[in-house]
Amino acid sequence: MILKMRENTQPRQVAGVDQAKFATRARGEADSSLKEVLESFPGVISFAGGLPDEKAFPVDELAKIVQETSRDPAAWQYLPTEGHPALREAIARHMADLGVEAGPENVLITQGSQQGLDLVAKLFVDPGDHVLMEAPGYLGAIGAAQNYEAEIWDVPVGDDGLDLERLREAPGGAKYLYTVSTFHNPTGCSIPLARRPQILEIASAKGFYIVEDGAYRELCFEGRPDPPLKSFDREGRVIYLGSFSKALVPGVRVGWIVAAPQIIRTLALLKQSTDLASNTLGQLFVLRWLETHGLTPPVDLYRQKRDSALNALEREMPAGVSWNRPKGGFFLWIRLPEGLDAAAMLPRARANGVTYVPGAAFRGEKNALRFSFSQVALDEIEPGVRRLARTIEEFIESRKSTKAAAGT
Ligand SMILES: Cc1ncc(COP(=O)(O)O)c(C=O)c1O
Repeated sequence: MILKMRENTQPRQVAGVDQAKFATRARGEADSSLKEVLESFPGVISFAGGLPDEKAFPVDELAKIVQETSRDPAAWQYLPTEGHPALREAIARHMADLGVEAGPENVLITQGSQQGLDLVAKLFVDPGDHVLMEAPGYLGAIGAAQNYEAEIWDVPVGDDGLDLERLREAPGGAKYLYTVSTFHNPTGCSIPLARRPQILEIASAKGFYIVEDGAYRELCFEGRPDPPLKSFDREGRVIYLGSFSKALVPGVRVGWIVAAPQIIRTLALLKQSTDLASNTLGQLFVLRWLETHGLTPPVDLYRQKRDSALNALEREMPAGVSWNRPKGGFFLWIRLPEGLDAAAMLPRARANGVTYVPGAAFRGEKNALRFSFSQVALDEIEPGVRRLARTIEEFIESRKSTKAAAGT
């Protein structure tokens, strides 16, 4: 889904298009490598796509609320740039439930959290500024910062989230750190509770902001997730991004930002020149949905899918393959034995009827892959894992025979 520009910034000759007039960052060719990886093939079970399961959308109920909402003439009018006042209040209450002190003045409604990422980059980044990004990490956040010509500094992510030692070594003048603190994309990991305040301490000592992306937070399978970094924030240092895309439906394109009121006011000014305001019908729809249904994502379905994946992995995977056990979200992270390249294995996987996204596509380890259990049908998970396990076994064997033939 993410298209980015290739590194090459030389203007290209494209019939009828004068690329020399484009800004340097928009020149070159769109890189469609991830798009290719996410392509679907008949008969291939896909653990690649990271979208919600459409079959879990309560379409009759959604349609009913859309119909009710759309009868109000106000649904067709502009709204203030900051968002519908009652929705801002509802989000402030939701954040209070997470331990974040916030009033409506702390909330800006956005068109999905992706717009939040763009606005935050627009707020902070001058060309050449450093931004700290998770590696592996969400490409949409990197793309947003790169659009404003940020220099990206990678902070490795392991089983316990961000590597704090590397964070301490980050360049002094970095503008912000981006992190998906809970149910991370692409790894599924969450930052343990004890480390959360430490990240704020490092940010405070080094003087950078934190952009905390809570896109998957509401999809928790076991109890309640740990409080967000924002709940430990006493300095107005954390800018929290939320979304109804995973917790309700992505098509409505409603998300939010929670930050200090001065930041919200500046972001609102920047947003004005982007879209004047977020879509009105979507905001009224979400408001009515929250009033009538609350926020109840289909966590039982996703938990079942995760469990089915974990059970099958346990049964089928050859020795030397490891994976994590995410407590929520859409993804788990599988590591192949050291030295194996998950991207090089992909054609063999497809031939065996299964697909995934190699870790390197997210700037992660070459021997890792993202296994998404959100979209695949429940009864396809076990056969899919079996195909993946067979692919890995074959790949290990083929490497052994290549090495033997080379006499190494
Ligand atoms: C980590 C993360 N953040 C943000 C987004 C953007 O989502 P939306 O704009 O639909 O809220 C996504 C989308 O998949 C995501 O994975």
